[in-house]
Amino acid sequence: MPDPIDWTEWYEMTRSQPPNDLLVEALSHAKDIGKAIDIGGGALKDSRLLLQKGFDVTVIDKSPLLEKEAGEIKNPRLHYFMTSFEDYSFPVEEYDLASAMHSLSYCDPVYFDHVITNIKSSLKKGGIFCGQMYDSCDQWSKNLQAHRTYTTADQARKYLSDMEIILFKEEETEKGRTKHWHIYDFIARK
Ligand SMILES: C[S@@+](CC[C@H](N)C(=O)[O-])C[C@H]1O[C@@H](n2cnc3c(N)ncnc32)[C@H](O)[C@@H]1O
Repeated sequence: MPDPIDWTEWYEMTRSQPPNDLLVEALSHAKDIGKAIDIGGGALKDSRLLLQKGFDVTVIDKSPLLEKEAGEIKNPRLHYFMTSFEDYSFPVEEYDLASAMHSLSYCDPVYFDHVITNIKSSLKKGGIFCGQMYDSCDQWSKNLQAHRTYTTADQARKYLSDMEIILFKEEETEKGRTKHWHIYDFIARK
């Protein structure tokens, strides 16, 4: 299904931004610098950090813009696949870190459970899963854009209940933002 969102502007805006703070924090909990997956990597600001830290990085994103972004990073430790999370065959017990920064809410709700299960099973024991889930009070839920998945705090925690939750932070604010945010930041260990 074609993506109803044109990501060009987002990519332009974020390409030279620093990596997501939540990923920086998650890295302080990573035991091994081995393999990482950047799920919905966008303009790759987080993949760049992971490469710098020494990870072998797989990035998946369904946007055709991915090819150009990845092509500009000349690093043999970067592997990229233009695919959706719903379709990607996540390998089992492969990654030390799975990062899904501001991307999971774009998953087709029908496949959300399946995608979360696959992400968790792709982690090695001790591996870190970090990212955000979005609440239905987040302003983006009012947009009629297809395939967005929203959770309550309880649901978000339940998705992580078979992991050690290192951080679970609810953020609801408009301050300094262009919209009403209501999200759950998380860092969890398998
Ligand atoms: C808000 S951007 C976040 C990008 C990046 N993680 C960041 O923090 O800048 C969401 C990204 O998810 C990707 N995306 C959306 N739905 C997807 C899906 N179903 N499968 C894979 N990627 C998806 C988009 O192409 C976009 O690059």
